[in-house]
Amino acid sequence: MAQQSEREELRMVVASLRRHVRWIERAGVRVLPRGQFVDNKPEEMAERGLLRGVEGDLFSDYAAAYRAKTLEELRGAIGDCHRCKLWPGRTHLVFGVGNPHADIMFVGEGPGRDEDLQGEPFVGRAGQLLTDIINKGMGLKREDVYIANVIKCRPPDNRNPEPDEVESCEPFLKKQIELIRPQVIVALGKFAVQSLLKSKEPITRLRGIWHDYHGIKLMPTFHPAYLLRNPGDKKLVWEDIKKVLKELRTSPV
Ligand code: URA
Repeated sequence: MAQQSEREELRMVVASLRRHVRWIERAGVRVLPRGQFVDNKPEEMAERGLLRGVEGDLFSDYAAAYRAKTLEELRGAIGDCHRCKLWPGRTHLVFGVGNPHADIMFVGEGPGRDEDLQGEPFVGRAGQLLTDIINKGMGLKREDVYIANVIKCRPPDNRNPEPDEVESCEPFLKKQIELIRPQVIVALGKFAVQSLLKSKEPITRLRGIWHDYHGIKLMPTFHPAYLLRNPGDKKLVWEDIKKVLKELRTSPV
């Protein structure tokens, strides 16, 4: 009896796989890429980068993103994203901007109104302050660094991103970091810091000290929007940025 129901289950799996392949064929796909499957040796998987164990999932909505070799390919793989509930409210998906080989990558929370309208991260008032930190504080141009956010679409009324939205977008940020491979990540504000470090510690405890993000040095600091409300804390951000500059100067490229 048990054997018969297992056979029936197998028949249903095969039938649904066949339907799926026919559907792919009808969509015009003629060749399916050979995936690398999840039972690879852990050392090999570790060598492949930050995204482990899922690259071979042929039917994953993220398969093309995992395989991307450049930021352009990654952007193409994200496409007109409908993977979470934020897409109906967006004007632009805000992917990221800057030098694909940057030594420093800034990671914020998510696009606000100005960023949604322009399709570029940190272009509003908080963005102007970040640009000042980069230009005047660090002596760099925006084009020298890379700037991205944890989530790529604006939440309604700038509310905090919700866990399912962060989860949907997380593979894209991880892949951006994997492709850029910066020397240092500067995580801006509580939300980005806690998401990247998978921590619930308050930003006041996390900021100003080096953390490890998959082998990359990560410096948490306050968000520029917080600094607009609390300008007295700019000096603390400057201390954090000085540590970043020292790290960049002293560590071999
Ligand atoms: N705040 C963010 O966290 N990111 C932006 O792109 C703009 C404002």
